[in-house]
Amino acid sequence: MYKKYWTVDKLDKLYKDWDPKVLDELKDKISKSDWRLGYHIQPETGLLSDPNGFSYFNNQWHLFYQAFPYGAVHGLKSWSHVVSDDLVHWENVHKPMVPDQYNDIKGCFSGSAYSTKDKLFLMYTGNVFKKNKYDESVRYAYQNGAWMDKNNNIKKLDKALIDGSPDGITGHFRDPQVIKHGKYYYAFLGARSVNDKGQFIVYRSTSLDNGWTYYKHLDVGAYNDERLGYMAECPNIGFIDGKLILVFCPQGADHSKFRYSNFYPTAYIIADALDWDNMKLINPSKMQQLDEGFDFYATQLLQDPNGRLLEVAWIGVPDTDYLSPGEGWVGSLSMIRELSVKDNKLFQKPVDENNQLISSEIPVNDGMNICKQSVIKFNCNSDGLCKIFLKSDNSYLKVYLDNDRSCVKIIRKNWGEQETSRECPLDINNFDTCYLYLDNTVFELFINNGMKTMTGNFYHDGLNINLHFNNLSSIKINKMISINN
Ligand code: FRU
Repeated sequence: MYKKYWTVDKLDKLYKDWDPKVLDELKDKISKSDWRLGYHIQPETGLLSDPNGFSYFNNQWHLFYQAFPYGAVHGLKSWSHVVSDDLVHWENVHKPMVPDQYNDIKGCFSGSAYSTKDKLFLMYTGNVFKKNKYDESVRYAYQNGAWMDKNNNIKKLDKALIDGSPDGITGHFRDPQVIKHGKYYYAFLGARSVNDKGQFIVYRSTSLDNGWTYYKHLDVGAYNDERLGYMAECPNIGFIDGKLILVFCPQGADHSKFRYSNFYPTAYIIADALDWDNMKLINPSKMQQLDEGFDFYATQLLQDPNGRLLEVAWIGVPDTDYLSPGEGWVGSLSMIRELSVKDNKLFQKPVDENNQLISSEIPVNDGMNICKQSVIKFNCNSDGLCKIFLKSDNSYLKVYLDNDRSCVKIIRKNWGEQETSRECPLDINNFDTCYLYLDNTVFELFINNGMKTMTGNFYHDGLNINLHFNNLSSIKINKMISINN
């Protein structure tokens, strides 16, 4: 029913042609939704997907996200904009960047931001369709620029920075991340070759808003290159103590070569460094899943002014059905995480700023009714299987920590759906402290202090969620403060 309503014409309708009443109707629906979140970024109406333009500018954190406000579907994409003083409390600026030019008319797709003293530069993909020589409509990509001033007013450049894709690359060429090194700005882009091979393409320029030329493709090493699938989306790089972290989404990666269970995977590679002259990762690790849960995608990284490497992702996956669209909204962003590297492994944890949301400790007993915004800290250093279950009438999330098999398994039953599961192997034999953050219908599990994470949606059907546990060596629960309106 919902899908039938969304004809191509409606999905592609320009924002100026929408009746604003549609937003009020959605808000009304959303006000009755039992699935809204307390401390994660969620759309005011409609759909949220990739984080974009994560940056620090004008003494504030800025975060944009792919949005379609007129319905909880992947319609014509814009950039919604939220700002924060502390990476925790976010406020919507209500000055989105919407598709309205020849070079982004089918969507302002993903991209990044680069902070200068007075202005923030946004670089994004303009999605369009053009007729090819056979008169077929095919995808064509522009890479576009825009400047945002200190009042958060965005002015797009009239002309595209990069018009089309380089030789051998299709119109699937997108998601530029701008980084400065030496005298050049570099843009890292995801690409699909004409032979259906995922690649990363690098352009560069000495100025942000013009002069961008093709530089090289990024060499990620032969092992990883074979695992990039047919399209490598959303590349982002960052550095920790000189080491390079590359995160990306290798769509269609071969299951016999890369273990993943979601419709599209998300992955990372750690390298000792980046050889900028040859655009080559030095001593790259084997690529690994970035998150082992159900819903995690399109991660953005930000080198924060205090030297941390921060991360944020969409708690969702493209081409995957979710249950909340019927309530007028879908999608959320993960908590902001800080990354670190130990023994060439990537660790993720919520930024310290997030601790301000942790409130009173709650007495724990088996079968208790758990507050929908809470964090459960637990450990399993006993033998055998440790369990922690969240259950409501017809839905559950069962987390098993398996000492014998050195893995964590989550079995999820969403309301009205079949049970599904994800399994996360650990490379070590013992469990350390784990944190399960619950925010009504999303959860983020940090295993062994963030050595692995499992993130996802959990659509439950009840007013109550009950907690059951077994064989844990310790458990502590704190309420999380709900800050969303
Ligand atoms: C990832 C993605 C990006 C693209 C955007 C469009 O989810 O496919 O590659 O820019 O979504 O919304």
